[in-house]
Amino acid sequence: MRILAVGVATLDIINTVDGYPAEDQEVRASAQRVARGGNATNTLVVLSQLGHDCEWGGVLGDDPDSEYVLTDLQSHRIGTEFCETSPGGKTPTSYIVLSTASGSRTIVHFRDLPEYSADAFAFIDLAHFDWIHFEGRNIGDLTRMLHRVNACSTPCSLEVEKRRDGIEELFELPDLLLFSRDYALQSGYREPEAFLRAMRELASPGVRLFCAWGDEGAAALDSEGAFLRVPASAPSGVRDTLGAGDVFNAAVIDGQLRGLEIGQILSMACELAGRKCARSGLNGLV
Ligand code: FRU
Repeated sequence: MRILAVGVATLDIINTVDGYPAEDQEVRASAQRVARGGNATNTLVVLSQLGHDCEWGGVLGDDPDSEYVLTDLQSHRIGTEFCETSPGGKTPTSYIVLSTASGSRTIVHFRDLPEYSADAFAFIDLAHFDWIHFEGRNIGDLTRMLHRVNACSTPCSLEVEKRRDGIEELFELPDLLLFSRDYALQSGYREPEAFLRAMRELASPGVRLFCAWGDEGAAALDSEGAFLRVPASAPSGVRDTLGAGDVFNAAVIDGQLRGLEIGQILSMACELAGRKCARSGLNGLV
C-alpha cells in the first residue's frame, strides 16, 4: 500500500550510560551512536520494512546533517519528493541519554526549523495514497491538511504525543487516533480506559482509538466503544526504548490497512514494539 506521513526527521545523538545521571554529575558514555530519528520518519521506516511504499512530507535543514537524514531515508526506500528544504535551516537535533539500567531514553530536543506547511501539502496528489499519517503538531496548518484529506476521503491517522493548544479540536477528523501514555498522563489520566473513553467523546463516531502504555502494554477502544487491553510483550531484556511508540504506531497502521480485527492489531503492535525494545535502533526490525 502507498503511505504518506507528514512530520519530522531529526538527527539523534544517542549516548548510552550505565544508569541515568544525577543533575550536575559527569558520567562517561559506554557507547555513542548517531541515527536519523523523528516520529513520522521512524514510523515510515517500519512501514517500509512491513512492505509498504512510503513517502515523507516534511522539512529538511540546509546543512550536512540533512544529507545524513536524506541518505538514511533513501536507504529505507522512503520517497522524499514532497519534502522541502529550509534555506539556511539547521537539522533538528535530539541529544539522547539511553540508560542501560532501565532502558529509558531521555531526550533533549533542539528545533529551529519551520514546520511543513499546508501550502506545501496542497501540491501533493492525495489520490496516489492509500493512507496518510500525521504527527499532531503545527495545529493551524494541520487542521487545513486534515480537512483536505477528509474531502478526498483518503483514510488517515493522527498521532497525539504531546499536549498542544487546540489539538483536541482535530480529534474528530482522522479515521484512527494514536495516543501516547505521556499525553494521557499530562491530560490527568492514570490509566488508559478512562482516558480513551474521554477521547472517544471528541472523536468521529466509529473510529478506533489506540494508546501505547509503555511497560504495561497498550489499550484500544473499538468502533463500538469496547475496551481492549494487552500486556507488554516481554522482550529478552529492555535495551533501547527509543522510537518504540513510533514502531507501535506503524504496526497499528499496517494492521488497519490489512483489515485486521482490532484485538489482533493491538497484540501485533505490542509484540513489534517489544521486539524493538530488546534491540538497538530500527534497522532490520521486521
Ligand atoms: C523517538 C523520536 C526520536 C526523536 C524524538 C523527536 O520517538 O522520534 O527519534 O529524536 O523522538 O521528538
